[in-house]
Amino acid sequence: MKVCDIMKLKKGKSMCFFSAKGGVGKTTNILNFAGIFEQLEKKVLIIDMDLYSGGIALYLNKSCDKSVYNMAFDIMNGSFTEFNNYTVKVDNYIDILAAPKDPRDANKVDARCIKTIIDKACSIYDAVLIDMNHALDEINLSVIDAVNEIMFFITNDPLDLKNIRSLLSIFDSLGIKNYSLLLNNSRDPFKSYFSLYEMRKIINHDINYSLSVDLFLKDMEKLIMKGAIVSLDRKFADVMSDDYKTFVLMATDLLERDSLK
Ligand SMILES: Nc1ncnc2c1ncn2[C@@H]1O[C@H](COP(=O)(O)OP(=O)(O)O)[C@@H](O)[C@H]1O
Ligand SMILES: [Mg+2]
Repeated sequence: MKVCDIMKLKKGKSMCFFSAKGGVGKTTNILNFAGIFEQLEKKVLIIDMDLYSGGIALYLNKSCDKSVYNMAFDIMNGSFTEFNNYTVKVDNYIDILAAPKDPRDANKVDARCIKTIIDKACSIYDAVLIDMNHALDEINLSVIDAVNEIMFFITNDPLDLKNIRSLLSIFDSLGIKNYSLLLNNSRDPFKSYFSLYEMRKIINHDINYSLSVDLFLKDMEKLIMKGAIVSLDRKFADVMSDDYKTFVLMATDLLERDSLK
């Protein structure tokens, strides 16, 4: 068997981060999650599918000549080359496929090639993490349809919770079952209006993972300016041990669970 055939057999797992509203911590924590895969010595790709205002490359201070737009365009036109011609290396474990620099290119991404992009990525990487915005548009529905798992971010916010309930019923009506709910307590650490019990009742669903208030960082802006991934700090596992354990659990669940897809 040729090396290229062996590569095609490798099957990584894909997960998208979705939410009912923006600003719930998806982008911040997809980077943290990628850092955990690095610590587990797994190769990880972050695809920035927040096509109109993606922040992954910006956060990491990476300049990217190519984006999801170029890859999609080349796939549709039969001029796709090597996967790594479109990605940028962050370090030895993490690569990124950026959102278009020019938001006008976002309109031109053909949703029909989303599954091809994700499948190609899964043949190269152990984990493929897809950042998204919160619209239930054609692009996001294609992502949701193609991934192994969906991580639904929720916060302790009444409007968010009411929204989640109706979104989850849409998921149910579409037969989407491969999702987990993550309660992010680090986004608004001063908001704790509802108890866990009340939140579960409002959304009519179990909460599978929680990130704690400890993960709230007063100097987040400084880290963003530096482009530093919080979970890669060598003190992270000790200082934020609950969140470290949660991320490791999320990672092992994704890698080991027999997915529905
Ligand atoms: N743990 C945290 N500590 C401090 N600020 C945070 C934290 N997580 C997110 N933020 C801030 O909240 C805002 C929204 O987070 P972001 O990850 O961009 O959300 P989303 O991707 O869901 O829109 C950003 O300004 C981000 O810096
Ligand atoms: Mg975001």
